[in-house]
Amino acid sequence: MEKRTELYRGKAKTVYTTDNPERLILHFRNDTSAFDGEKVEQLERKGMINNKFNNFIMAKLEAAGVATQIDHVLSETETLVKRLDMIPVECVVRNYAAGSLVRRLGVEEGLALNPVTFELFLKNDALHDPMINESHAVAFGWATAEQLATMKQLTLKVNEVLSALFDAAGMMLVDFKLEFGVDAEGNIVLGDEFSPDGCRLWDKETRKKLDKDRFRQGLGGVVEAYEEVAQRLGVPL
Ligand code: C5P
Repeated sequence: MEKRTELYRGKAKTVYTTDNPERLILHFRNDTSAFDGEKVEQLERKGMINNKFNNFIMAKLEAAGVATQIDHVLSETETLVKRLDMIPVECVVRNYAAGSLVRRLGVEEGLALNPVTFELFLKNDALHDPMINESHAVAFGWATAEQLATMKQLTLKVNEVLSALFDAAGMMLVDFKLEFGVDAEGNIVLGDEFSPDGCRLWDKETRKKLDKDRFRQGLGGVVEAYEEVAQRLGVPL
C-alpha cells in the first residue's frame, strides 16, 4: 500500500489517497482548533492519542455491530480506512445539556436530557455548520430520508454502547458528533473519528471536563485530559 496525494486537509486530520482507489489514509495531526478555526494550536502528542483512541473506540463499535471505515492502523498517527462518499450532515446526540444547546436555549449546563436529543448540522465551515432539520437535508439533496433514518438509528446505537463504556470508566458521555458516508456497496458506514475532539466527557464524581472544552475554554491540561481518558479506558498509548 502506497501513500499518494493529499485529498483533503481538515482542521485536525489530513486525508491521503493510496494506490488502492478504495482505501484512504487518515493522518491525525497535532493541530487543535476551535471556533471555526479562529483558535488553532499545536498540542504535542494529540495526533497520536486521537489516532489510537479512535481505533480503540471504532473496534468497540464494530464489535457491537456498527460498520466503521477502519481497515487497520498504519503508524502512531495514521490509519488506513475505506473510501466513503461522505454525507455532509453531522449527527449530534446529547445526554446532558452543554455547549451550543445551553447557549441557544438558555438551559442549565449539565441538565440530564431524557429522552436524549438528536440534532443535525450541515458540515459547512463558511456557514459555521448551521443546525438543519431532516426536511432541509432531503430538500437540498444532502441525504435521503432513508439514509437519515439509518444515521439516526446508528447514532443512538453508538450512544448506548459508548455511554456504557465511559460510565464503566467513571465518565459521563455528555454529547458527541458523528459523520457517516456511503461505501462502494451503498451501505451507510461510520466515518471521520471519535475522539475527545468531537465529544464531551466529564468525570462522573467531580464533573471535571476531559475533552476539547478544555481547549475551547482555555482551561489548560488538554492533552493530559485526553491521556487520562485513554488510560481510564485502557487504550494503550
Ligand atoms: O457545539 P455543540 O454543543 O453543538 O457540540 C455538540 C458536540 O458535537 C460536542 O461534543 C462537540 O465537540 C461536537 N462537535 C464537533 N464538531 C462540530 C460541532 C460539534 O465535534 N463541528
